[in-house]
Amino acid sequence: MIGRLNHVAIAVPDLAAATATYRDVLGARVSDPHDLPDHGVRVVFVELPNTKIELLHPLGENSPIAGFLDKNAAGGIHHVCYEVDDIRAARDALAAKGARVLGDGEPRTGAHGKPVLFLHPKDFCGTLVELEQV
Ligand code: CO
Repeated sequence: MIGRLNHVAIAVPDLAAATATYRDVLGARVSDPHDLPDHGVRVVFVELPNTKIELLHPLGENSPIAGFLDKNAAGGIHHVCYEVDDIRAARDALAAKGARVLGDGEPRTGAHGKPVLFLHPKDFCGTLVELEQV
């Protein structure tokens, strides 16, 4: 069902420092910061030859990243995103196998303007999983 790894999202307490680490230490191509108010994050995209890394920082008061950083002060992997062809078909197939879809189960528009859903980390090896329809 799942296809390519679209991105790995890393929550960071200091976005400028994290961007500098990826650009200057690891030698990666990094974007300017983008504010995504609907998602409560400011994000920097790190472009790798085969996938992307997203550096996430809280934006606004109800950011989903804030609680994660409270528990992981140095930052850490927040989620992985896998591509699917048909997000509603994927959702229904996963729900039929007992997986929990977060929120109301309806796809939202993600950071790349495509429909996304999130799956409960307890059902997937302790890792929050994002599905993106490509
Ligand atoms: Co993501």
